[in-house]
Amino acid sequence: MERVSWQPLALLLLAAAAAVASGTEVGYDGRSMVIDGERRLLISGSIHYPRSTPEMWPDLIRKAKEGGLDAIETYVFWNGHEPRRRQYNFEGSYDIVRFFKEVQDAGMYAILRIGPYICGEWNYGGLPAWLRDISGMQFRMHNNPFEQEMETFTTLIVDKLKEAKMFAGQGGPIILSQIENEYGNVMDKLNNDESASEYIHWCAAMANKQNVGVPWIMCQQDQDVPPNVINTCNGFYCHDWFPKRTDIPKIWTENWTGWFKAWDKPDFHRSAEDIAFSVAMFFQTRGSLQNYYMYHGGTNFGRTSGGPYITTSYDYDAPLDEYGNIRQPKYGHLKDLHNVLKSMEKILLHGDYKDTTMGNTNVMVTKYTLDNSSACFISNKFDDKEVNVTLDDGATHVVPAWSVSILPDCKTVAYNSAKIKTQTSVMVKRPGVETVTDGLAWSWMPENLHPFMTDEKGNFRKNELLEQIATSGDQSDYLWYRTSLEHKGESNYKLHVNTTGHELYAFVNGKLVGRHYAPNGGFVFQMETPVKLHSGKNYISLLSATIGLKNYGALFEMMPAGIVGGPVKLVDTVTNTTAYDLSNSSWSYKAGLAGEYRETHLDKAKDRSQWRGGTIPVHRPFTWYKATFEAPTGEEPVVADLLGLGKGVVWVNGNNLGRYWPSYVAADMDGCRRCDYRGTFMADGDGQKCLTGCNEPSQRFYHVPRSFLKAGEPNTMVLFEEAGGDPTRVSFHTVAVGAACAEAAEVGDEVALACSHGRTISSVDVASLGVTRGKCGAYQGGCESKAALAAFTAACVGKESCTVRHTEDFRAGSGCDSGVLTVQATC
Ligand code: GAL
Repeated sequence: MERVSWQPLALLLLAAAAAVASGTEVGYDGRSMVIDGERRLLISGSIHYPRSTPEMWPDLIRKAKEGGLDAIETYVFWNGHEPRRRQYNFEGSYDIVRFFKEVQDAGMYAILRIGPYICGEWNYGGLPAWLRDISGMQFRMHNNPFEQEMETFTTLIVDKLKEAKMFAGQGGPIILSQIENEYGNVMDKLNNDESASEYIHWCAAMANKQNVGVPWIMCQQDQDVPPNVINTCNGFYCHDWFPKRTDIPKIWTENWTGWFKAWDKPDFHRSAEDIAFSVAMFFQTRGSLQNYYMYHGGTNFGRTSGGPYITTSYDYDAPLDEYGNIRQPKYGHLKDLHNVLKSMEKILLHGDYKDTTMGNTNVMVTKYTLDNSSACFISNKFDDKEVNVTLDDGATHVVPAWSVSILPDCKTVAYNSAKIKTQTSVMVKRPGVETVTDGLAWSWMPENLHPFMTDEKGNFRKNELLEQIATSGDQSDYLWYRTSLEHKGESNYKLHVNTTGHELYAFVNGKLVGRHYAPNGGFVFQMETPVKLHSGKNYISLLSATIGLKNYGALFEMMPAGIVGGPVKLVDTVTNTTAYDLSNSSWSYKAGLAGEYRETHLDKAKDRSQWRGGTIPVHRPFTWYKATFEAPTGEEPVVADLLGLGKGVVWVNGNNLGRYWPSYVAADMDGCRRCDYRGTFMADGDGQKCLTGCNEPSQRFYHVPRSFLKAGEPNTMVLFEEAGGDPTRVSFHTVAVGAACAEAAEVGDEVALACSHGRTISSVDVASLGVTRGKCGAYQGGCESKAALAAFTAACVGKESCTVRHTEDFRAGSGCDSGVLTVQATC
């Protein structure tokens, strides 16, 4: 029996009487979601199913649950499910029903963000490129072609999930669903255009017609909110934000735990202290449901997975790293926070509340009271000074800068967002197969460029330079443009190409004469390269490549790619005037490369004889390489180190690991030189901080999920090296905790240390009191405590984890008797 149960509480209670025994009744009121009649404080985390493998899902979900999460949130990836119109894919990592079943089996709730426009640093924001072929189509506006396709897909997903009984009312895990994504931002840009308004109202009506029995949300939709929809917040902070109506709860759909990375960028890090601060502030200010975007970021496997210029890694600095490892101290510090918040669920959602600013609006005490109990938050938004705050009972509490203290009884501080009690882990990469010393044995095969250097017809001809996405249907990154011209005698020219990107290779008479790619940020660029024409017929062949399609912004599908209109010219080197304008010559077109048609990456039997052995060429553009390797033993995640390669695509046993580009060096940004968790975190502009990897390859390591590997049998890696590189340096590594460090601020505090994947602590290296210099993994003790070292060594060495209490007996030499105890162990 289906029930619509998004009405406010009173109606919901009536409906509850008719509830099916196994179903969960979901509704809401002005304070929170209401599940089976109870207000609930919910913590959720995003895990995108195609950014990992089904084999990884149970472990990721279990870790999320152990981290104190109630729910898993995911988008739905339309272009992955419907790669060609009405041809569907629900296999492997696109088995969405299996994903939700895993969530259910773990005893967790799920949040379904259908979109189906999802942004998400995903190719075209999840919209399949074939949509463009439908006449009259305009993305995300009020028009029949788009709305029809959107409804067809939404209905398909809803029906599939209903059939599998995945909605809460059916006994399934899904308690909320989302339609569209951050459309408010588009409406702003379009000046609240009428068609935009009609579209978003249409979205809400279409969604509500689906009868899913759980409420619908729209994120970042602060104006023109349609009826029967909950508007929610996205951002690094959501304490100052409140929903439009008072009868809907305050929900935070995206608390960004870090940031995504582009090929030209270093790594973004958002500190555990700052995330904890934002979460605590949110619940201080009546928050009721918060979702981490991302809890596990994962990997953009395959060419239609990432967004424009987005790296293959979508690590996001999330609490679970790209490979599924626990990232400490982020994971543990948030888990501690979840435990405290959960213990206050009742009073936060039912209590009366009072916010009192303490002398300055930066300092606020919020007191919740219920029956005879009370709970307090004290927040300090100063980024440079701690404050002393005296509560009603006369007790004074010191609250560090940019932090929130939580006192579940208004007496004892159970949590302060700036005080980390969890260990810090330093992840290390260890050689995968110790026995391989001489590297892998490679064979190679040239990509067959010849046909497009000659008179081969291509797919069609046109006397103009065409837009790439429309021409190729985004079936490949690559589109060939080729023309020819008759010339008398030998001459030198400059070949000038104006392109909207993203990358361009130019050949003249079969010889590579130039390569260029979009400089930071913008895709439009000009290539100018010297060329020589010979007497007779000359061929100009241009290969344009996209690197993920745009996923954000109003009318983003209007953003062109490729050599749209050019001009393409041959410029006289002496007079600098145009000798030939080729823009309207007869151009012949072909999407995709020969190796893509042959599916060389699958290493098919019929192609085996094509691979060449012997000395393999290095730094040769447009070359396929193949090697076999042994899978590293054990359970630790595996990565391939591709340093030395240029740009291309990598497969293992036929599975696409994504685009690689280790030759791309990340920009030098100011944020690499400052890191202070205090103060507003931003991913753009002046707020950037705590970046790492400036001037280093933006992505050197590529995840090889364990399920792609065969144990005890040879595994095959195939590379398509487009720019030229040296595969002989490729190696495999496993990633696990290498060093674990923790601190105890006071005598009586417990220090817990743990390795990962069954590894044990091999030594305790530092046990020091007072200020410790250096970083975890390379601490230099200041005041060594022999007693502490002995106690930790006895309790920890040989164990996977251990806990030791800081005692009075832990003393160091004179002048060292007090202060924080710091311990460092090696796994
Ligand atoms: C949000 C968007 C997400 C993602 C995020 C940045 O605005 O809703 O899909 O793109 O930004 O990672």
